[in-house]
Amino acid sequence: MRKCESQPTVVQQIIKRAEESMTDVPAAGREDGYRLYHGRRVARLACRLSRRENLCPRVDCMVLAAACLFHDLGKCQGHDAADHGKTGSMAVEHELRGLVNPRQLRGVRQAIYWHNKREKSPPDLCTEGKLLQDADLLDHFGAQEVWVTIYSAAAERQPVSSALSMWKSEKIRSWTDYALVNLNFPTSRRAMQKRLQFTRRFFWQLQREEKGYLY
Ligand SMILES: [Fe+2]
Repeated sequence: MRKCESQPTVVQQIIKRAEESMTDVPAAGREDGYRLYHGRRVARLACRLSRRENLCPRVDCMVLAAACLFHDLGKCQGHDAADHGKTGSMAVEHELRGLVNPRQLRGVRQAIYWHNKREKSPPDLCTEGKLLQDADLLDHFGAQEVWVTIYSAAAERQPVSSALSMWKSEKIRSWTDYALVNLNFPTSRRAMQKRLQFTRRFFWQLQREEKGYLY
């Protein structure tokens, strides 16, 4: 992620802690290191959304970096995954020891707690929390969705038709509907529409080629 101008050293330390803690966390059906890579993409996306929405003066970059990088900490081994937002918000205190002040820790914990409860989150949720919610959703669509769908099918030695069925499933349809109604910012909605257009176009073409069409 782009370094924060005001606190580059602390942000770098937060990134280093995330690399140490999140790299080896397993994620079923995903590549090794997925939790770290996803967290890093979410952090970069959240920074970009913040700039496009002119939110930088209201955003604490240490809170944003920590919340994004550790938002799925609750999915780690040893933590109860029933509500990974809740368990992650508690576990993150240990990860950030000595790096953030109590006010910042409260912000990180609030953002992580609500990141997976978008429809119930309070209107006064901190800006970092809203950015995390949108960036987390965006990273599940577009070329990333194509990658994950094909990776999952290939890892189970399934054919192209299996990847197509996965993409057309009811689960993906309702996940997409959920994403579209729960984004917080206009920039996120525009980015989501572009990602969805790309994914539809890709799977449409894959389906045609699977059926033996020339193009
Ligand atoms: Fe996530």
